[in-house]
Amino acid sequence: MGVPKLRERISRYMEEELGIGGQGPDSVLVTTGSQESLFSISMSLLREGDAVFTENPPTYFVAYTVFREFGARVRPSPMEEDGIDTHSLEAAVRSEEPGRRKFIYVMPVAQNPTGASMGEEKKRHILEIASQYDLMVIEDDPYGLINYSGARPRPLKSMDGGQGRVIYLSTFSKVLAPGLRIGWAAGDPGGLLSSVSRVKQLIDLNTNTLSQYICSEALERRLIQRNIGG
Ligand SMILES: Cc1ncc(COP(=O)(O)O)c(C=O)c1O
Repeated sequence: MGVPKLRERISRYMEEELGIGGQGPDSVLVTTGSQESLFSISMSLLREGDAVFTENPPTYFVAYTVFREFGARVRPSPMEEDGIDTHSLEAAVRSEEPGRRKFIYVMPVAQNPTGASMGEEKKRHILEIASQYDLMVIEDDPYGLINYSGARPRPLKSMDGGQGRVIYLSTFSKVLAPGLRIGWAAGDPGGLLSSVSRVKQLIDLNTNTLSQYICSEALERRLIQRNIGG
């Protein structure tokens, strides 16, 4: 799952900087970049013909490619100024057979490629849809700490009300150094996270330890916060 010290510091970092409480070290899986989380989640959950619900214009293209690689049908909903059109998202979810609905994949802050950030109402609606239709939400948040306007946005994960429907992904790639290849997934340790962790072990046994210690030290010294003015 990762170097214990790093998992502990990521857990604290999420609480203090991102407003995501209740995610102790056991809820943190360190990965080789967020990319590995996306791959491992897809390998755990997706089977030929399953539906994945995303933002359109096409979401982060490598995520899209991974979903397709595992045989998923990507069901995109249009972006508006304040994020995905959640009514269209709900209609897409409703139109799929329950067994085929796999997860919603969104980037609430600085969506790639549009740069739009999601409004609070839409966040609440996404969580309602997930709950009503029994879906997981993959919240990909590489840019959560990079914010040019006012208050720091609240991650979906912090609004989940302990339901455990949101798997939160983030990375040191955009705020420290992409070449370290360190990211993480946070979620209910007994749920999807444990199967993601099994898949992750099949890919690379464990994440580069030297890079993990570097990230751990950077968190301890508050390097990221100092660099981006947090
Ligand atoms: C939205 C998004 N998710 C995930 C990634 C993958 O990042 P990492 O370097 O942590 O694998 C990127 C990289 O650009 C990205 O833009």
